Amino acid sequence: MGFLSKLFGSSTIKEKEKMTNIKLAVIYYSMGGTNYQLAKWAEEGAKEAGAEVKVLKVPELAPQSVIDENEGWKAHVETTKDVPEVTLNDLEWADAIIFSVPTRFGNMPAQMKQFLDTTGGLWFNGKLVNKVVSAMTSAQNPHGGQEATILSLYTTMYHWGAIVAAPGYTDPVTFGAGGNPYGTSVTVDQNGQMVEDVQAAVKQQAKRTVTVAEWVKKANQ
Ligand SMILES: Cc1cc2nc3c(=O)[nH]c(=O)nc-3n(C[C@H](O)[C@H](O)[C@H](O)COP(=O)(O)O)c2cc1C
Repeated sequence: MGFLSKLFGSSTIKEKEKMTNIKLAVIYYSMGGTNYQLAKWAEEGAKEAGAEVKVLKVPELAPQSVIDENEGWKAHVETTKDVPEVTLNDLEWADAIIFSVPTRFGNMPAQMKQFLDTTGGLWFNGKLVNKVVSAMTSAQNPHGGQEATILSLYTTMYHWGAIVAAPGYTDPVTFGAGGNPYGTSVTVDQNGQMVEDVQAAVKQQAKRTVTVAEWVKKANQ
């Protein structure tokens, strides 16, 4: 073991320099838990890449009486009651953002759209420029609007002046997860179970988002 390794543990100075201080917000909406799980896997991947991560939910818009009529939805709301709700301050704080939403007729859910529609002030003041972003989704059908849902989110990102760090086919892991280059997406069966194994692809996407954010941040320093 060299002198530097003894001083700094197993990481060399060069490795330390490579570690980011990227702040990542994983912002999701979920009714049945799928997108919450995707958000948690993204958190894991980003932390492995050295990022500081906040997992945040967008505020629910549905009335409690409607949630109470659906056992699965009700249970999910209870499970995630301690997850903080996203605020505009979180967007200012973040260097990078990963969104995760279920499809709603090939679009993002109203809950996420409502939150995005509160970002006009930040946008006007140039506070969303160069945020590095990517998105994930789920749908009940493999061709039920997964790419379109991700694109619906990216449309808003283009207006922000954000930098979309889509996974593309930059890593073979995408092929094993259904091959969506726009962002990781998963099919959910009638029992609410994920069909494809997307955990590795989610983590890879998170790492890529953090890496691109690191490049952008360093270039702006
Ligand atoms: C109003 C509504 C619209 C939906 N539209 C579609 C759709 O167009 N295509 C599809 O495959 N699934 C559709 N779904 C199924 C959801 O996308 C699926 O339940 C969701 O991805 C599960 O994610 P979650 O567990 O995070 O809530 C729809 C669900 C609801 C409630």
